[in-house]
Order: sequence, then C-alpha cells, then structure tokens
Amino acid sequence: MSNRVELESRGLGMQFGGVHALAGVDFKLRRQELRCLIGPNGAGKSTFFKCVCGMLKPTAGDITIRGQRTNGLLPHQVARLGIGIKTQVPSVMNGLTVRENLWLAARRDNTSAVANRLVADIMDRLLITDLAAELLETLAHGKRQLVELGIVLAGQPWLILLDEPAAGLTADEVDRMIDVITDINRESSLIIVEHDMHFVRRIARQVTVFHQGRVLIDADVDTVMASQDVRDVYLGKQV
Ligand SMILES: Nc1ncnc2c1ncn2[C@@H]1O[C@H](COP(=O)(O)OP(=O)(O)OP(=O)(O)O)[C@@H](O)[C@H]1O
Ligand SMILES: [Mg+2]
Repeated sequence: MSNRVELESRGLGMQFGGVHALAGVDFKLRRQELRCLIGPNGAGKSTFFKCVCGMLKPTAGDITIRGQRTNGLLPHQVARLGIGIKTQVPSVMNGLTVRENLWLAARRDNTSAVANRLVADIMDRLLITDLAAELLETLAHGKRQLVELGIVLAGQPWLILLDEPAAGLTADEVDRMIDVITDINRESSLIIVEHDMHFVRRIARQVTVFHQGRVLIDADVDTVMASQDVRDVYLGKQV
C-alpha cells in the first residue's frame, strides 16, 4: 500500500440550523485503503459521505481529493474525479432489468460497445449474470444491493463510498458482499459505513469512529474494539 494521501478533510463542518452534524472532522485516506467508519446513530457518518461526494456543501473546513480542493463542487463534478457512492437510499430503477440498470450507468462515460463489455464484466464479478433479464422490482433485497454496487462500479471509480452495504443481508449474502468488497479493494480505495461489528472486523484493518460530528478515535480494528471510549459512546454515555 502506498502512503500517498488521496482524500483529506480538515476541520470539516456541516451545520443544519442549530445542529452541528459535523463539528470539525480531520480525516485522511491513503491509496488503496479500505476504511470502515462506525459510530452511533446521528454521529455524522452519512453527512460526511454527502459532503465528500458533493451532495452537501460543507459550512466549514476543507476537503481535498488527490490534491484538489473539492468543497462546493457538484455531485457530477466529484463523480468525474473518480468517486462513486452508494447511499442508504436506493438509486436503482425498478421498472428496468438488471442489465438495463447497469448499462445506463456504464453508458454515461462510454461508447455503447464499451458499456456492453463493462456491464458483462461487472455482472461476472458480482455473480449476477443469471439475473441480467430480471426486473429490479422482482429482486430480493440482497440481490438489489449487489445491483446497486454494480451501478457504482459502472462509473469505474478509484474511490468508493458505501453506506451500510450489509444492512438487511442474510449471512450468505454478507459472505458474498465481503468477497466482492475484497475483490474491489484490489483496484480501488473504499470507505464503508457499517453498523455490523462482525462485518467490520472481517474486512477492515483501520477503523474511524465518529461521535457527535467528530472523530473519536482512528486506529486498527483491535484497538477500536477494545476501547472503553468506544464502548461508552455506543452505550450512550458521555465521553
Ligand atoms: N438534511 C438534514 N437536515 C437537518 N439535520 C440533518 C440533516 N441530515 C442530517 N441531519 C442531522 O445531522 C446529524 C448526523 O446525521 P447523519 O445522517 O450524518 O448520521 P449517521 O451517523 O449517518 O447516522 P445513522 O447511523 O443513523 O445513519 C443527525 O443529528 C441528523 O439528524
Ligand atoms: Mg447514516
């Protein structure tokens, strides 16, 4: 793993009226890292993602992506820098098939022929080729999650943000999701928000804990799991 910092936030703040959703987040992600973000409900994890990908304009601080200051860029401009995000809200089109959903995403930056190859490759990687002609609305939750991930991959991002990719998955589907994420991490950096601690332990080396809009601790997974501060935060105690 190279030591180059590819994403950095400094003093990042996001205020909604009187609520400081982010209250000075300092964060660094190095090339090809796989980082998990954890923290209790309302800690600011999704808000951080939205600021990074341009869905929200931070009210304080800076975000730098590969050396370029990106605060104030619009989502499509951040996407053009090679950032892909899967939010907690679905982005698939229910009335279209799996292949059509992926193709629309792949066609955005590619010729039709390249998009066809890219879609075939993504379905192969995600092991969903047999679902190509199925309508999204007919798929169970776990398969839809894989298609959502496929839509992100169709943008060929070098940095992928995943908000709760394991939520609602069965044990087998979690295993598959871990394989897929490990495979993606061979080429791309990832930041993953996840509540499921077993999942976090199985995929992450480095974990960042958010609490009340700040980074509480940023350390290897064993240190984080053993931290009394982290336990207290999850139990709702003040630290
Ligand atoms: N658009 C908004 N308007 C007002 N307040 C918001 C908005 N988005 C988030 N917040 C508030 O900001 C805080 C952080 O929310 P955020 O969604 O980032 O938390 P989270 O860590 O992703 O939580 P969860 O684990 O429940 O998904 C919360 O207090 C939330 O109510
Ligand atoms: Mg969230």
